[in-house]
Amino acid sequence: MISRVKGTRDYLDLTLFNFIIDQARRHLAGYNFTEIATPILEPLELFKRSLGLYTDVVSKEMFVIQPREGSDDQICLRPEETASTIRAFIENGIQVTPWKVFTWGPMFRYERPQKGRYRQFHQLNIEIVGTQSIAQDIQLITLLDRFFHEILTLNNYAILINYLGCQEDRTAYGQKLKTFLDSKAAEMCATCQERKETNTMRVFDCKSPTCQEILTTAPRIADHLCTTCASEWQQLQEQLPLLSVSATYEPNLVRGLDYYNKTVFEFVSGDLGAQNAFCGGGRYELGKALGAREPLPSLGVGIGIERLMMLLEPHVNNLPLPQRPKLHVVMPLSPDQQALAMIVADSLQADGLATDALLEGGSLKSMMRHANRLGAAYVLMIGEEEQKEGFITVKSMIDGKQAQVKQAELLAYLKQ
Ligand code: HAM
Repeated sequence: MISRVKGTRDYLDLTLFNFIIDQARRHLAGYNFTEIATPILEPLELFKRSLGLYTDVVSKEMFVIQPREGSDDQICLRPEETASTIRAFIENGIQVTPWKVFTWGPMFRYERPQKGRYRQFHQLNIEIVGTQSIAQDIQLITLLDRFFHEILTLNNYAILINYLGCQEDRTAYGQKLKTFLDSKAAEMCATCQERKETNTMRVFDCKSPTCQEILTTAPRIADHLCTTCASEWQQLQEQLPLLSVSATYEPNLVRGLDYYNKTVFEFVSGDLGAQNAFCGGGRYELGKALGAREPLPSLGVGIGIERLMMLLEPHVNNLPLPQRPKLHVVMPLSPDQQALAMIVADSLQADGLATDALLEGGSLKSMMRHANRLGAAYVLMIGEEEQKEGFITVKSMIDGKQAQVKQAELLAYLKQ
């Protein structure tokens, strides 16, 4: 047996997965978002320039492909969608902003697999490209809360927010934080000592209790904002409650990708275990890094579909999942009736009735057992007599009733 690649999954029942995507499509159409799709293959350079060289995703987790022996192409499987969306915006010369788009599909990160963490996983990604307005941040977080709470009927989650300031604020704050960390370096773990030099704010992601304790007294970026940023941060905190969205200020929330500035947020649930974020995003400016003349202030979010499914699975019975249509199973009782069985099945399928035909032969008993396993609502038996006389024996598997129905009247009978 050849097993699947570590950290990947087989999806054998997509009902819940497709339900999430369908509901998101409908919800986002209501906010005037357009669905797009970008390639799974992207140049490695795209992510090096956007996510940051020192992020875990770029430094340790990329799936890089060498298309041919000796080729210099550096292609990778996308680890996320934001950089691809901005590339697509620039490359396709989109003129109208804000560009409100969403997409969904597989992402790839070479992480250590564990509950809720895969090497191939799926995200639904939403971006609003080319907007300065803090009102968009408020609307995006509200839209997400409405989606999870009202449409997917989830209650067991919290919204964490933080505000990382503009580039100037971050640079000035980075210095203050580094000075603080320098004074505590001897007590901190090796990873934090390294991050202090390369990607200072990522120290906040450290799980070590000692480092966490030290960081409780670290300067907080939200306390060191310029006037504009301070006013936006205040609006964010004041206006979310006006829309009945309750978000909690989490000063340690910095997110794992380097491109964020200003608003960052995560939707987390204690029901997920260690990997508790099922949705995360914020503001960023990737225009110049990816070759545009403008900085392109934007914001967006990635929803982890697998983690969202983990949250929904215990409650699926409360969700209006689409029901499978009633199944009709056509049974030719001998090889002589196979052609007729296919003609009958073909006409039912053409009329939109879900129909399967048992073409493997076998006894009536074994075919009935098979039809039962398939979950048939009706079996349609065609034997020698039925073939000669032009009727079909229809048995309802729901109430056991049996009737002989003329071929010409079959459709009307089944649709009753
Ligand atoms: P992210 O936080 O890296 O952000 O991923 C978003 C969500 O994807 C996470 O909250 C989680 O639910 C899910 N996720 C991430 N990695 C894995 C994994 N290995 N296995 C299963 N699920 C995972 C981004 O990717 C940003 N591009 C989001 C964004 C969009 N920011 C602005 N626009």
